[in-house]
Amino acid sequence: MTTTAGSTAELLGLFPPGSRVDADGELVVGGCRLADLAAEWGTPLYVIDEAGVRAQVRRFRRALDAAWANARMVFASKAFPSTPMYRLMAEEGIGVDVAGPGELVMALAGGVDPARIVMHGNAKTTAELRRAVDAGVGLIVIDNTDDIDRLEDIGAAGQPVLIRVLPGVRPDTYDAVATGQAGSKFGLPLPAARAAIDRLRSGKLRLDGLHLHIGSQILSAEPYARAVEAVAGLGEFSTYNLGGGLGVRYTYADTPPSPEEWAGALAAAARRCLPPGAQLLIEPGRSLVAPFGVTVYQVVSVKGDDPRFVAVDGGMADNMEVALYGQRFEATLTSRVGGGRPAELVGRHCESGDRLISGVPLRGPRPGDLLAMPVTGAYCGTMANNYNGALRPPVVFVRDGQARLVVRRETLADLMSRDVPPA
Ligand code: LLP
Repeated sequence: MTTTAGSTAELLGLFPPGSRVDADGELVVGGCRLADLAAEWGTPLYVIDEAGVRAQVRRFRRALDAAWANARMVFASKAFPSTPMYRLMAEEGIGVDVAGPGELVMALAGGVDPARIVMHGNAKTTAELRRAVDAGVGLIVIDNTDDIDRLEDIGAAGQPVLIRVLPGVRPDTYDAVATGQAGSKFGLPLPAARAAIDRLRSGKLRLDGLHLHIGSQILSAEPYARAVEAVAGLGEFSTYNLGGGLGVRYTYADTPPSPEEWAGALAAAARRCLPPGAQLLIEPGRSLVAPFGVTVYQVVSVKGDDPRFVAVDGGMADNMEVALYGQRFEATLTSRVGGGRPAELVGRHCESGDRLISGVPLRGPRPGDLLAMPVTGAYCGTMANNYNGALRPPVVFVRDGQARLVVRRETLADLMSRDVPPA
């Protein structure tokens, strides 16, 4: 992994828009000093710039509406499935996609209109499908013929469905999150999709169209066009859900397409290959939330000189992105922003793989310093775990200098709450 030293301005550019350094050198996000937030709620702490997320949702909607007349977007809620986030998305007037029973329940609790919910999953149980149908979920995405059997068995006549098609397109991203290539466990390859279309057209479910999702953290719009072309021959439908996957800028080297470029590329492909009146859906997750999240840690120990290990009070229990995918992040001390010498930023967990950033420049790190890691607003909280008895961090929404706790820290009592006392 290479060391990438950016200027302080470049570093701030990885933080939510409007982030700045106060006169005394302290990092400010969403108008709130991170040191104040850590003093109030402790560390590790997930901070979400609420205004940033809202502005991003609006930007995507504008971009999409400008690119295609009949378009709709839903938030791929797996990126941040939490009732306060569902509520925010509902307030912004968009729907969500859900891919598990808890996501559906939280979405409904957060006030999302069921008609605007899209349900996914390659192994949906009958109970989950029944709950979705009973709740009035707007679209269920068929991944396999067992989904069709189950929906027919529960008598879901008239339920609008899409068929997830495997287009045979491998975007340039991590193996674990590439989903559009032949051999993926998701969706039906073209011949099987054709057969499912024929079956659905003569059955009682309502086939509205097709769904594609080729992967995640994709830094080019080009594979999307190939995926749209690949499925165009399956017939004409009223709805095409082109999935999510737009990548974000974790490091100085990442240059993802803008929402406008992405929406424009999808619409251009649709104009070439799909019926002009069709409805286009997109379901971005990461790109709506990742850039607006910051994790605040406290430095616990500093050891050695070459390499110099800086260990913080979190790690792979609150951020699996590095251990699972090797995602590169950047970070800074909150009171000495930018500059400094490369350090090995490591977590507190009992694995050598619990290394948060290799070669991150830090300016004079000392135990007790606070450290901020930007671009942690997607897939960190949701994949947080209790390794070594770690307590999952709280979530604080910040906006215009106001901070509010929206998810409290897990407690030791929570950790033991499912244990059955000895008889
Ligand atoms: N639609 C479907 C059907 C999906 O499976 C996903 C993500 C999305 C939309 C949203 O993709 P996004 O815009 O967030 O890239 N655990 C991994 C990410 C897995 C993504 C899974 N599916 C991580 O930590 O990076």
